[in-house]
Amino acid sequence: MAKFLSIFTMRNLLVLSLALNLSLIMRVFLDGEKQGFFFSVEQRGPSMGEDKEAHATQRTLQSVSSSSGQEGMEKVINLDHGDPTMYEKYWMMMGERTTVVIPGWHSMSYFSDVKNLCWFLEPEFAKQVFRLHRVVGNAVTEGRHIVVGTGSSQLILAALFALSPKDGSEPMSVVSTAPYYSSYPVMSNHLKSGLYVWAGDTRSFNKEGPYIELVTSPNNPDGFVRHSMVNRTGGILVHDLAYYWPQYTPISSPADHDLTLFTVSKATGHAGTRIGWALVKDAEVAKKMVKFIELNTIGVSRDSQLRAAKILEVMTNTTEIGCSDSGESFFEIIYHLMAERWRLLQAAVNNGSMFSLPDFAPGFCHFLQQETQPQPAFAWLKCEDDAVEDCESFLKGHKILTRGGRSFGVSPKYVRISMLDRDINFSLFLKRLSIIQS
Ligand SMILES: Cc1ncc(COP(=O)(O)O)c(C=O)c1O
Repeated sequence: MAKFLSIFTMRNLLVLSLALNLSLIMRVFLDGEKQGFFFSVEQRGPSMGEDKEAHATQRTLQSVSSSSGQEGMEKVINLDHGDPTMYEKYWMMMGERTTVVIPGWHSMSYFSDVKNLCWFLEPEFAKQVFRLHRVVGNAVTEGRHIVVGTGSSQLILAALFALSPKDGSEPMSVVSTAPYYSSYPVMSNHLKSGLYVWAGDTRSFNKEGPYIELVTSPNNPDGFVRHSMVNRTGGILVHDLAYYWPQYTPISSPADHDLTLFTVSKATGHAGTRIGWALVKDAEVAKKMVKFIELNTIGVSRDSQLRAAKILEVMTNTTEIGCSDSGESFFEIIYHLMAERWRLLQAAVNNGSMFSLPDFAPGFCHFLQQETQPQPAFAWLKCEDDAVEDCESFLKGHKILTRGGRSFGVSPKYVRISMLDRDINFSLFLKRLSIIQS
């Protein structure tokens, strides 16, 4: 307890110093927006080729362009994507420690490690992944092959490819429990593959034969811990544990599954680095995933892997026993930031009767060594007002962009709201919720 209090005091100092720097940081962000920096990043969105995503990206473009130079209530707040910009503040604080310099002659070959089953896996990245899981205790790594991907998005597709029989009489069914991650149906059907096809919510899935179940835990969008639902013979499970980190959910035990996916996007906030990893038990499955990535992108950016390795290294260093007293512990700081955001959101929602949030049960977190509350990366908000059928449209009318329940296979009374945006947008969002309920 004394140790915890000393950490907390250090954290307070840190928050104070961050607050002092906030105006400078905001200046940088606002200048960035005015200069169209964020605009040019989002321009890549439509290449995803999917209507919903293209539409969502279009709305980002509109919100960025319409928010330029605007303050306060006129600004469109885009909380549709789970863009983890909240994390910038922490990494700014870490300064040069995460800077990676790559000489022009370095990493030129396609090959990272020809002796590894995953020949494009950077050994340093693999080392830091193993080290991080060991310290956090959120996944068993013994006896696993690491397959690195261009984000876990590429690994989801690689897993579907690897797990579907090549000589099946019909495409393999892909299912997940609603509300499910909105990209799963889109990814499964995008290329009209003959190997696999989206078959919807596990609860209504009654087709005989083999299937792949995507288990997301904690779940995107609602934040609840999930287990497989179908439990029939011929089922193959893919565990998408993008959010199984102490800042979002209690770490109850090391995940021990056949195929588990993680991503730096949600672990460290480096979504733009586009690096994810799979822990795979079966060498043949891992080889097929590697084949998919080989055919798709001939490997994964070595530069990105080296950058991700450095970020993971620093993150683990701040976390290891003996270092957490420094007040720099990544997970403790982000955990407290998330706790504060959830406290403020709950207060804003409870201030009226128009909205509700899920109720979560606390659990013991073996990493933080205390009971913690789930505090998901997304708020799964319900419009309780009978007059509001479509919560997404309702909030859009108040210049808050969210993603509606239909995208997740459920009622439009629900919306998913990113909790990972920058302070300035999160504060505006809270302010606007209060005004709606006043
Ligand atoms: C559950 C889940 N899986 C996978 C992804 C994809 O992440 P990445 O940025 O690594 O492609 C996301 C991103 O939001 C997600 O929420």
